[in-house]
Amino acid sequence: MNQLKIFAGSANRPLAKAIAKYLRKPLGKATWTPFPDGESFVKINEDVRGRDIFIIQPTCAPHNDNLMELLLFIDAAHRASADRITAVIPYYGYARQDRKDEGRVPISAKLVANMLEAAGADRILTVHLHAYQIQGFFDIPVDHLLPEPVFAAFYRKMAIKDLTVVSPDVGNVKTARNYARILGGELAIIDKERFSGTEVRAGNLIGTVDGRNVLIVDDMITSGGTIAKAAHLLKERGARDIYVAATHAVMCENAVARLRDAPVKLVTVTDTIPFCNEARQLRMFKALSLAGLLGEAIRRIHRHESVSRLFLRRR
Ligand code: R5P
Repeated sequence: MNQLKIFAGSANRPLAKAIAKYLRKPLGKATWTPFPDGESFVKINEDVRGRDIFIIQPTCAPHNDNLMELLLFIDAAHRASADRITAVIPYYGYARQDRKDEGRVPISAKLVANMLEAAGADRILTVHLHAYQIQGFFDIPVDHLLPEPVFAAFYRKMAIKDLTVVSPDVGNVKTARNYARILGGELAIIDKERFSGTEVRAGNLIGTVDGRNVLIVDDMITSGGTIAKAAHLLKERGARDIYVAATHAVMCENAVARLRDAPVKLVTVTDTIPFCNEARQLRMFKALSLAGLLGEAIRRIHRHESVSRLFLRRR
């Protein structure tokens, strides 16, 4: 592992430290203090010439600062003659803007991909993209991890009886079906309509949840509207306990309050994004760490070993 070096920006230090601990490697020395006028600045404070470099930085809020810091990190490593640079992006920001669905709008997820490649990234390691097709926005290899092994281990231990896995919208059906197979439950789907960034309507329910315990799975919680509306609908339709497994805890606006007021027993998320203090204080929220999964992926990429071994086998 001599040639492997891990660095991290400022976006999620606890996760980066946990990954470093898993790999039994220190985090590389670097400085990322902005200039007095707010411009980002990054300096790598150790030799990286000829090394296999992994830079850990989710591009969560503040998105532009974190993205810029990552780009500067990559550029610094590139100009310092690193042999290979992998951008480890546990949460890929701007992913929702992945197509031109009206006139005169950008495809931001593609622009970010272009910027990462232009800065000098050789590979990308990321987690649960909002749309899996974003992998194709890159012309460099992308390793796309899913949190299934971590959530599945947690919910298997809970051994929830009479389980129905619910997709809160049609976009997540495949994920929900996978969980239903892995955990041995039934599948139900909600037909969601989104009116704006914060307004959604949970319409029809395909499947039945009457008398069943429910696990809602989603890629992210942003305003909390999707999960809250889904939970109310499921309760109306006779669901018993409602659990949530959502990968990225974006948690903006009144997400925590919305979920606190919804008929949800437990909300599990991962640590791809630092968990907000408000949620940390409530027992109904639990963050599961992906440090082991990401650390193992880094080890395997470095050793040119299979990463698909980290995917869960379907039942
Ligand atoms: C939608 O396509 C996504 O999978 C999530 O359901 C959505 O981004 C969650 O957003 P919010 O929490 O604001 O409803």
